[in-house]
Amino acid sequence: MIQQEKIDEIRQRANIVTIISDYLSMKRRGSNYVGLCPFHSENTPSFTVSEDKQIFYCFGCHAKGGVFAFLMMHENLSFPEAVKSVAERVGIEVEDHKRGYKGGGIFEILYKANAIATDYFHSRLLESGGERAREYLKERGVDRTVAEEFRLGYGPPSWDGLAGFLAKRGFPLDMAFRAGLLNKRDGGGYYDRFRERVIFPIFDTRGRPIAFGGRAMDGKEPKYLNSPDSPLFKKGETLYNLHNARQYISKEGYVLVVEGYFDLITLYRYGFKHTVATMGTALTVSNIRRLKGYAKEVYMLFDADDAGRKAVSRMLPIFLEESAQARVVFIPRGMDPDDFLKREGAEALAGIIGEAEPLMDFFLKDLKDLSDLSTARGKIEYLETVAPYLGSMSNMVERDHYAEIVAAMAGVGVDIVYATLKKGQTGAGKNVPLPSETIVMKNYDRVEEKILHILFSFPHLFNEQVKEAVSSFKSAMMRDIGLAVIDILESGGSTPDFTFLLDSGLDEGAKKWIAMALVKEDGAIREAPEKILEDCCRKVVSSGRLGEGTMKLIRQLEMAGKFHEAEEIRAGAESYIGRTCLPRYDRRG
Ligand code: UTP
Ligand code: MN
Repeated sequence: MIQQEKIDEIRQRANIVTIISDYLSMKRRGSNYVGLCPFHSENTPSFTVSEDKQIFYCFGCHAKGGVFAFLMMHENLSFPEAVKSVAERVGIEVEDHKRGYKGGGIFEILYKANAIATDYFHSRLLESGGERAREYLKERGVDRTVAEEFRLGYGPPSWDGLAGFLAKRGFPLDMAFRAGLLNKRDGGGYYDRFRERVIFPIFDTRGRPIAFGGRAMDGKEPKYLNSPDSPLFKKGETLYNLHNARQYISKEGYVLVVEGYFDLITLYRYGFKHTVATMGTALTVSNIRRLKGYAKEVYMLFDADDAGRKAVSRMLPIFLEESAQARVVFIPRGMDPDDFLKREGAEALAGIIGEAEPLMDFFLKDLKDLSDLSTARGKIEYLETVAPYLGSMSNMVERDHYAEIVAAMAGVGVDIVYATLKKGQTGAGKNVPLPSETIVMKNYDRVEEKILHILFSFPHLFNEQVKEAVSSFKSAMMRDIGLAVIDILESGGSTPDFTFLLDSGLDEGAKKWIAMALVKEDGAIREAPEKILEDCCRKVVSSGRLGEGTMKLIRQLEMAGKFHEAEEIRAGAESYIGRTCLPRYDRRG
């Protein structure tokens, strides 16, 4: 348990903009920052961070919250883990019952284990005993400067080199095991996982080592041994060298993606610094979302062999679904990027990068080559194969562009392409793409919204008239929010903190509205907040009182015995003002 005051102190010390900037690139817009939302796929930024209010809100998927919520969602942390992670960044020590190595929480201890191991491996490479590994790196073109830049290392053949090194420093070995640095011995105890290998430390976006890859030098299997997944390291979510490449990616506007550690280092050496490597796997959805935060386009470098071609058709649906722009760079003659650069040089690589085709174009052409478009059957098959890909394009312009290309390739009219597309989408079992979340924001009364908006930005304008207006809001949700806002305003303080509402018992729909309203900028309000507030309040109150004239009418009808008509008018009036405020005619009287 972390004490509430501590949590508040950490929240106050942290700046949500700085912390979120570690994970995505954002641009200033007015008093907010905006970027591509990491929680859903989008092409135009709707993820908004308010520095004043210290919250984020996505206008697309409605993800929202404060700095802790961001880390919980983005890094998959529990609440205490998120608090600790922020505490660490702002330099506040957190007391925890699960005290460990020098009082740190589990995350801190695992980071520490990896940091110690990075130094250990790096020293083993540079010192005597590291000759063989240095020789190996040299053969692969990696000199000392590059080895230092990437903090490369060497895991000696010893079974207890790192284990002994950690033990001597009083580091708990079970924690080094949890970090994936040591293996458990059957008979108890631990031994080094990375033996007789060249070591590539893998850093998170903040430059802290979270895992390692180890290359065997003697043809031993596996060729590469990686750290297992741990609380710090998720293989499918990690991109090697992202922390270092970020600045170059933003500058170039696109990112190169390779599959191997050595490919990456060689590209870097030849000046392609805007490069990241997957952990030997295809790009994952998580990878793509993360890259979209920095780059407009992803260039994937593949072998020109069958495996590379297959990878393209596997990747295509993911890119389309994420609306991410991608191009494929085929490295000729079965070479990997590392071999290619060494043989052909940087200019040759720049040349094929310049010619890279969009993923979809490549796919369409490749498929065309495999199809027999001279027969009706062949055309139908081609169109049916292509249709789901076109169908998952959310951008109409893009879809239309490709529908034309497909039509031309198949030699049919574009109407036929659309007809196939439609047939495919209504057919059973086909996935019609849906928005990631159904938006249930109704059209709430603008006037009520405006009042709360103004209170968020100008709380000092609160007065009795406002209070009366809020308590007669027609929308139950706005009224609930309004009353909670009044609670905060009345409990005093010159700078009321409305972000508490996001952790309150209000329902999700209400919280979404609040987060949105807190980050939304309304220039019109800013011009004359007091006047607008007054007008809005008057409107709300008078519409609440609209009952008076109506009431008279109802009374008269009831007196005349026209109960049915009276009830109809009453029901209409009540539904209009949203509550039962018309006094019932006492029939006994
Ligand atoms: P490759 O087998 O394509 O090798 O693995 P490479 O990168 O060309 O390596 P060198 O040039 O022979 O040294 C590509 C990536 O796949 C992962 C690693 O991340 C590697 O960089 N991999 C490969 C593993 O994790 N384990 C393996 O056994 C092999
Ligand atoms: Mn290679």
